[in-house]
Amino acid sequence: MTNAELALSVDTSDEWIRQRTGILERRIAGENETTADLGTRAAEAALRHAGVSAGTIDLVIVATATPNETFPATATRIQASLGMTRGAAFDVQAVCTGFVYGLAIADNFIKVGQAENVLVIGAETFSRILDWEDRGTCVLFGDGAGAVVLQGSESRGGPEERGILSTHIHSDGRHHDALYVDGGPSSTGTVGHLRMEGREVFRHAVVRMSEAIDQALEHNHLTPGDIDWLVPHQANMRIIEAMGRRLHLPAERVVCTVDRHANTSAASIPLALWEAVGDGRIKEGDMVMLEGMGGGFTWGSALVRW
Ligand code: UT7
Repeated sequence: MTNAELALSVDTSDEWIRQRTGILERRIAGENETTADLGTRAAEAALRHAGVSAGTIDLVIVATATPNETFPATATRIQASLGMTRGAAFDVQAVCTGFVYGLAIADNFIKVGQAENVLVIGAETFSRILDWEDRGTCVLFGDGAGAVVLQGSESRGGPEERGILSTHIHSDGRHHDALYVDGGPSSTGTVGHLRMEGREVFRHAVVRMSEAIDQALEHNHLTPGDIDWLVPHQANMRIIEAMGRRLHLPAERVVCTVDRHANTSAASIPLALWEAVGDGRIKEGDMVMLEGMGGGFTWGSALVRW
């Protein structure tokens, strides 16, 4: 759905959306397509790419704020769609930081030896929770899914080794009112619509994601010069550029898909990652910084040697 198409039904313009956000278009799931459908397709692609069969997966983690149903977890639907009959599957709710949270959980499960192969999926159908009459929010989001397979391996713990080097996740529940959905099973008994104070979120996003990036660098005794790629949460081009400057990275080292996908919440980081890995930009051995921020507020970073 292009900005021009949106401007047919809400009081907005291609120019406003482009200038304020960098978004040109977004993907909307088909009428009968659910979060589990999108997530399944992303998971199948990730398994294929990794050369891993679904039967060897010990854990399926789905980061989503738009599950198919209140319960059971969308992860269990995807587990069944993949033909898996063993392992565990659950959803993680950290909105736009969900994928980073999912990576953190998967990494820790692997490190303590409770899982060896973990599928981490970010999948969303935000189009279903948007108020299509609120121009302040409906122009910003889209639908999508992305996934990765994490596999445990023996490590000496050095930064030259491949895999997740660190994850840092945070939340501060005092900021509920800046970004939330005005419905839910235990409050209104309805699904509700997304509500956001854009400026407030913007301000916090820049500060919090910068902190998370610094934390990852410090933890790994690295400097911005050691980072090859930034794969940020895709909410707004202006925020993405600010994060790139923080790492002293030229624009071509910052992976950006917000122009075509808009904000796909938990799906945005794995979607961007897949683009840059799929087209050969991110290569084995590259140091990749992932960061995100979302409702809660939640925020965090993951540093990965690809
Ligand atoms: O993934 C979770 C994280 N989410 C984010 O990171 C979102 C962060 N926030 C943002 O990206 C930006 O704050 C927005 C893109 C949401 C808004 O940009 P802004 O520069 O902060 O604009 P604003 O909300 O202050 O609105 C400026 C003006 C207002 O008009 P007045 O009051 O100045 O006359 C709005 O009514 O723009 C108006 N406006 C629009 N005009 C045309 C708001 N939405 C639209 C629209 N089309 N879609």
